[in-house]
Amino acid sequence: MKDRKPLMAANWKMNLSLDEAGDLLERVRGAEVDFTKVDVLVAPPFTTLQLANSILAGTDILLAGQNMHWEAKGAFTGEISPLMLKEAGCSHVILGHSERRTLFFDTNEIINRKVDAAIEAGLIPIVCIGETLKQREEKKTFDIIRSQLDESFNISRQRRNPPESLVLAYEPVWSIGTGKTATPEQAQEVHLFVRRWLEGNLDHDSGETIRIIYGGSVRPDNIKELMAQPDIDGALIGGASLKADSFLSIIKFYEG
Ligand code: PGA
Repeated sequence: MKDRKPLMAANWKMNLSLDEAGDLLERVRGAEVDFTKVDVLVAPPFTTLQLANSILAGTDILLAGQNMHWEAKGAFTGEISPLMLKEAGCSHVILGHSERRTLFFDTNEIINRKVDAAIEAGLIPIVCIGETLKQREEKKTFDIIRSQLDESFNISRQRRNPPESLVLAYEPVWSIGTGKTATPEQAQEVHLFVRRWLEGNLDHDSGETIRIIYGGSVRPDNIKELMAQPDIDGALIGGASLKADSFLSIIKFYEG
């Protein structure tokens, strides 16, 4: 039995109208979820945060941004600051998603600044790492993961933040939106590697406490075998989080 409470996080990406979002959130809010067994989080687009915050008010469901800028305010057209996310009701922010890394050029250095700014502002970053198919085939998975960790936590590490202020998400790029989930063994192997890195670079307790969640084609039919792995502490769910039935059945993995 793991001590770490599982986290099921929905990453809606650039999907759902306000009406669709409202319907989905009402369904999730109305469902019987045992929040002593699982933490539930939703990351809608920025323009849906206000609606989501009002629907989820008074529930245990957490809210996250999908990205942010590292500065508190200023001339950064098109960007959203950590404080704006907090004002919109967010407790978390997804940083370094592979779509941000590849399509919007978020480098490890930029992610590092964002991680630091998020923690500074009191937001919990969900930091995404993961290798491409080419890197896996060239047997570079662990080198890539190590350098993403080394470079994305460079500043934050020195500040010695409490472990609750961080979530890691291992998302192999080749499994995102492709239907190709990593096998539980492939995922576990990387999760353990990440945990060892955390133990070595933060401290043993942090390594044991920080949640490492898996993302990439998570569905109701594969969540249980993933969650059975000792170092998988939840999931970051894209496609399957856009429908209430599939998201809820993933959240309720604990029903067995
Ligand atoms: P997916 O996306 O579940 O649709 O593969 C996961 C993610 O990108 O976070």
